This record gives sequence, structure tokens and C-alpha cells, in this order.
Amino acid sequence: MILIKRVITYGTFDLLHYGHVNLLKRAKQYGDYLIVGLSTDEFNAKQKHKKAYFNYEKRKELLEAIRYVDQVIPEKSWDQKIDDMHKYKIDTFVIGDDWKGKFDFLKKEGVQVVYLPRTPEISTTQIKSDLQIKQEDD
Ligand code: CTP
Repeated sequence: MILIKRVITYGTFDLLHYGHVNLLKRAKQYGDYLIVGLSTDEFNAKQKHKKAYFNYEKRKELLEAIRYVDQVIPEKSWDQKIDDMHKYKIDTFVIGDDWKGKFDFLKKEGVQVVYLPRTPEISTTQIKSDLQIKQEDD
């Protein structure tokens, strides 16, 4: 029997940038099948207090076009992770180290929890603010 190792990560992935791709590439190296729990617009607005520039469907299409991503599922609440681990038979949970320690509770579900170093000097927030400054200069 061939055992497929299944990996999951979560996030908003707005204005997809090389920091995201780098995270997804390294996440995929932990297994064979990578699932992205993509924050819905409603979850972003109500729970994360951020507004994505691209809506859910556009962010989903962009992620699905990345070779490391096998499946995109909606992230609708903070609480769904334990259920997701079982529903999608996850072996490894991966996320950037801005979340370090926050998801250690998933280890109790038999899942390996990995925090990867963020790619320096890039974020969606940074892109938005840099472009804002640039427009003001023009
Ligand atoms: N990430 C990363 N390196 C970066 C930016 C993001 O590894 N430079 C990772 C995050 O740690 C997370 C995933 O990419 O695991 C999705 O992060 P997200 O919050 O959607 O991206 P940010 O660019 O950090 O967005 P924001 O500025 O809105 O927080």
C-alpha cells in the first residue's frame, strides 16, 4: 500500500507574492498532497479584521494555479482546524513562524506541527503600503 502524506496550511494569501510561494513550496516538501485552508472574505472581515484586495474566488484561482497546491478549502472559522485534521487525514500542519506556538494544540490530534521562518521583507501589508507611498510620490 502506498501511503500519501497529507499537509495543510492556512492563510489569506492576498496579492499573492514570493513570500507566499516560498511558504507553499516548503510546505509541500513535508508530504505529497498540499491543502490550503483559504480564509473566506467573511472570516477575514469578521474574525481577522482584514480586507483582502482580491476576493475569495480570485485568491482561490491563483492558489490553484501554483504547482505545489493540490486543493483549496475554505477557512471559515478559527475552530475548524481540529475537524479538518481528521476530515482531510492530515499528517503535517505547516504555517509561518509569525504563528509560532499558536497551533501546538493540534499535536494532540496526532499531527506534526511545523512553523517555517517567514521570507524576510515581504508581506501583503508591505506591498499595499509601498504602493500607497509610491502613488503619493508620483
Ligand atoms: N508568509 C511567509 N513569508 C512572508 C509572508 C507570509 O512565510 N514574507 C506566510 C505566512 O507566515 C503564512 C502564509 O504565508 O503562513 C500566509 O500569510 P498571509 O498572512 O496571508 O500573508 P502576509 O503577506 O503575511 O499578509 P498580511 O501582511 O496581510 O499579514
